[in-house]
Amino acid sequence: MCGIVGYIGGKEVYPILIDGLKRLEYRGYDSSGVAVFCANVPHIYKVKGKISDLERFIGDNPKKGTLGIGHTRWATHGEPNDINAHPHISMKGKFVIVHNGIIENYATLKKKLVNRGYTFKSETDTEVLANLIEYIYEFGKVSATDAVRFALNKVQGAYGIAVICTDECDKLIVARNSSPLVIGVGEKEFYVGSDATPFVQYTNNVIYLDNENMAVLTRNGKVDIKTIKNDVIKPEIQTVDLNFDEIEKGGYSHFMLKEIYEQPKSISDTIRGRVDLTHNSIVLGGLMPVMSKIMNARRIIIVGCGTSWHAGIMGEYLFEEYSRIPVEVEYASEFRYRDPVINSDDVVIAISQSGETADTLAAVKLAKEKGATVIGICNVVGSSISRETHAGVYTHAGPEIGVASTKAFTAQVMVLAMMALSIGKAKYNIAPEMYMSLLNELITVPQKIEEFLEKPDQVKKIAELYKNSPNFIYLGRGCYYPIALEGALKLKEISYIHATGYPAAEMKHGPIALIDNKMPVVVIAANRRGYDKIVNNVQEVKARKGIIIAIVREGDETISKMADHVIEVPKFTTAIGALITIIPLQLLSYYIAVMRGCNVDQPRNLAKSVTVE
Ligand code: AGP
Ligand code: GLU
Repeated sequence: MCGIVGYIGGKEVYPILIDGLKRLEYRGYDSSGVAVFCANVPHIYKVKGKISDLERFIGDNPKKGTLGIGHTRWATHGEPNDINAHPHISMKGKFVIVHNGIIENYATLKKKLVNRGYTFKSETDTEVLANLIEYIYEFGKVSATDAVRFALNKVQGAYGIAVICTDECDKLIVARNSSPLVIGVGEKEFYVGSDATPFVQYTNNVIYLDNENMAVLTRNGKVDIKTIKNDVIKPEIQTVDLNFDEIEKGGYSHFMLKEIYEQPKSISDTIRGRVDLTHNSIVLGGLMPVMSKIMNARRIIIVGCGTSWHAGIMGEYLFEEYSRIPVEVEYASEFRYRDPVINSDDVVIAISQSGETADTLAAVKLAKEKGATVIGICNVVGSSISRETHAGVYTHAGPEIGVASTKAFTAQVMVLAMMALSIGKAKYNIAPEMYMSLLNELITVPQKIEEFLEKPDQVKKIAELYKNSPNFIYLGRGCYYPIALEGALKLKEISYIHATGYPAAEMKHGPIALIDNKMPVVVIAANRRGYDKIVNNVQEVKARKGIIIAIVREGDETISKMADHVIEVPKFTTAIGALITIIPLQLLSYYIAVMRGCNVDQPRNLAKSVTVE
């Protein structure tokens, strides 16, 4: 859940750590800290709050050194405060550690260590690991590397760790299991990060550690990788395709706004090289090895969490309409604990921006165990889910830093649309003329979004009027239902206004009781099919004096006249174009959150990558 950074080499370490933490702050931001080694002595600075609080606390004269580690925390064990913040140092001061994840058997281990005389300063599971390593080091008289390895064989749970032993300051030891960890390889120097963003300005050469692997990074440029069972692994250096500008705000006041505005480009990147207009075809190279499995699938099960789950429901509508394969969409967290019935002719699609979400990863593993073909739709290249699945398609939306997902969602839906169309075509379910118009719609989505984004004022005005409403309802029918869910999620996560998304026709089975003259009801009313039905739903809200904010297609005549406020999106004709209607909802939540003074990019209690269950 948190962000880890580390460095060993010849450069001044403090700026590398602090700048790296700022890039990782989206992953966790309740407290943070760094350890800078100066003449083999660790100087640990850590405070509750954000990285800016840490910088203020450290002031202008941090210790100087060329070895260090840093952490931005999303607390799991112990409240966010200065003491529970990382790095943690072992009782006798031999080991300094930062940790991402949860040591599940920490209580048992802690009890044993207490019986052997260990005392603890913090409430964290991480300090238990630090003391366990030290205990093994001292009692077993082994090297620091072996002490870490033996300790990791005793822990259960998830970890991405960076460890330094004060007796062996020529080494930085890192390890991972179910929490991400990437090593950046420079000239006689190594960087460590939860992802590559902290060091991409220095090097594009990376090593992705596998689960239960650990690496010893030495100052002379040597890297040794072993499993925690002591099997030697050959380091595989890959090139990461991350552009420094992509991880900066680039003139926008927030990452979220930048990412909303990036969507014309990110969607173009998602479809680039995959849609071939000369041959009227869609080629998803990553799916080639499993294409016959998909074609013969009895059922598709889509799993994901949050926004990715919403994309999954969009996928359900698209797959059923164009591919005619039955689809079920499941919350990954429910799926994994339900003992689901899965057969070898089922195809499971796991959707995840980060590719690290613990519940989704566990669902992938379960589906594989049960013999299904498992496909990943991930944004982060080299992430755990992308490596765990049999095949997959990267969304190529670029790094998404804002905690509220925007461009990752639109990219996920575009991938699902491309899959649905290519399968539908291969199965002869789509008439050629229809296929052509769908393909044309698909490639014009970026341009239409761009057009809409040129006129944000229509949304801003509505935000101004309703920024103080305590509740919102979002309604949609068909493929606008997941759009309603996603619009409601966006609003609640960044503005802390309670919002609920419903299929429009379900409103009368309960939520209608909430409607009065103060309730804003956002209706995504761009349907062509079922338009009359949504007109009825709008009438039902109006009859109870609810305030209608309608999202309609340009030129709409009926609902536009009934609604209190209208937001027009450029015309489109198929379910694929329907994706455009999420853009006004992203902007609405963004403006409301800014007007309410909320921290848009780092909303309270949330983190970008949820690596705990
Ligand atoms: C989206 O705005 C949320 N922050 C959250 O629901 C997110 O979509 C969810 O945690 C899943 O993340 P993933 O796509 O990285 O798996
Ligand atoms: N479990 C550790 C803690 O609570 C690490 C949490 C994290 O990943 O930030 O401190």
